[in-house]
Amino acid sequence: MEKTVTAPITSFQSISPVNPPQELSQVVLEEEDRFPLPLAEFNRVLGGGLVSGSLVLIGGEPGIGKSTLLLQVASSVAQTRGKVVYISGEETLHQIKLRSERLGVKGDRLYLLAETDLEVILNQIEQLQPSLVVVDSIQAVHLPESDTAPGSITQVRECTLRLMHWAKSSGVPIFITGHVTKDGAIAGPRVLEHIVDVVLYFEGEPFSAYRLLRCVKNRFGSTNEIGVFEMRGQGLIEVDNPSQVFLSQRRGEAVGSAVVSILEGSRPLLVEIQALTNLTSFGLPRRTASGVDFNRLLLVTAVLSKRVGLKLGNQDIIANVTGGLKIGEPAVDLGVALAIASSFRNVGVDPQLVVVGEVGLSGELRAVSHLDRRVDEAARLGFKRCLVPEASARVSPPPKDIELIPVSTLREAIRVGLVRGKSKREGSANE
Ligand code: TYD
Ligand code: MG
Repeated sequence: MEKTVTAPITSFQSISPVNPPQELSQVVLEEEDRFPLPLAEFNRVLGGGLVSGSLVLIGGEPGIGKSTLLLQVASSVAQTRGKVVYISGEETLHQIKLRSERLGVKGDRLYLLAETDLEVILNQIEQLQPSLVVVDSIQAVHLPESDTAPGSITQVRECTLRLMHWAKSSGVPIFITGHVTKDGAIAGPRVLEHIVDVVLYFEGEPFSAYRLLRCVKNRFGSTNEIGVFEMRGQGLIEVDNPSQVFLSQRRGEAVGSAVVSILEGSRPLLVEIQALTNLTSFGLPRRTASGVDFNRLLLVTAVLSKRVGLKLGNQDIIANVTGGLKIGEPAVDLGVALAIASSFRNVGVDPQLVVVGEVGLSGELRAVSHLDRRVDEAARLGFKRCLVPEASARVSPPPKDIELIPVSTLREAIRVGLVRGKSKREGSANE
């Protein structure tokens, strides 16, 4: 293992020779010098725009679209604000040109540099005095005087510190990209998170066209924001109404499908949960979860069997979130439960209904955070009813155009949520 003690942190220590402590009440808040990027979804994640002299890290798995996103941003900033330098340590000018043709970006005032030596890079950007610099990727650049290998922890850290120093002294913002593997293990973004000003992660499932840009650290704003993009043949397109997109392929009163209102940071999103139950034909029943947590699926299934009385013990169960989203929050439990119950009983879920709620082990529905935002999003998309845990049913002011249906147990929720659950007990032979 390599040690990282040699990084030249000294370059940051004295901001000015005389820098006495100041009383907090006397500190004047200066408005940060921000400029908006031409992509609204990107601005939202940055908290309103790019701050001068900031160092922004964009991490993500290889192939997710980091270079594509930054080339698009670089070209539009070049058009609106002047020179931009895009440094690629991984691709040749030829490859970047091919991508730019595909994206249809104009190349005016966008300078490309295929270079990995950071000394050379710093010299070049010093001379060009651009309005924005992109370094793609931080793992590909190196400092020749350091005798460790490019991409090693020491190199990556030292290069980042040098770029940080340059950004701060010149006032020019810099984007750097960093590859992460699924477990985030390699020398990359994780070790840089505490150095840079802003950390964004670009995520998505390879089979899905949707990409989320998620902020995990922001020295100049909230970390709660996400931006949604779609990868098309001509590059990344902003998705300004993601709930609508995620629900666009939903068929009205479909069996085994429930709509849940989740929160991604501070942003409510409606997504469809699908479930399929099927008699196990051989061996042990299988459970498959994609997009929802596997352990939560097991929990929900156990509660459905034990507290609601659905005999799922001989059923294979598949649960899926459409659009390739991954949902981490337990508020999705009720949606999973309702979709499973719907498939098992072969009864559709009320098509005008959105559900939220965490399922507890004794079959109770537990409160969720920010119910008001979730309900507003459901109302905005035209849903008429929202099934919510009784414990968090108070929303003030009361939402317009949508009825809140408070329920306290999963059993009750299923009774209300399934369309013909009350009158016609289809598939009741299953019970
Ligand atoms: P890229 O930006 O190279 O990813 P990263 O820099 O994160 O490694 O994206 C590569 C993928 O995106 C590649 O699989 C092809 C796809 N793609 C499109 O679908 N449309 C496009 O317009 C472009 C440029 C790439
Ligand atoms: Mg790339």
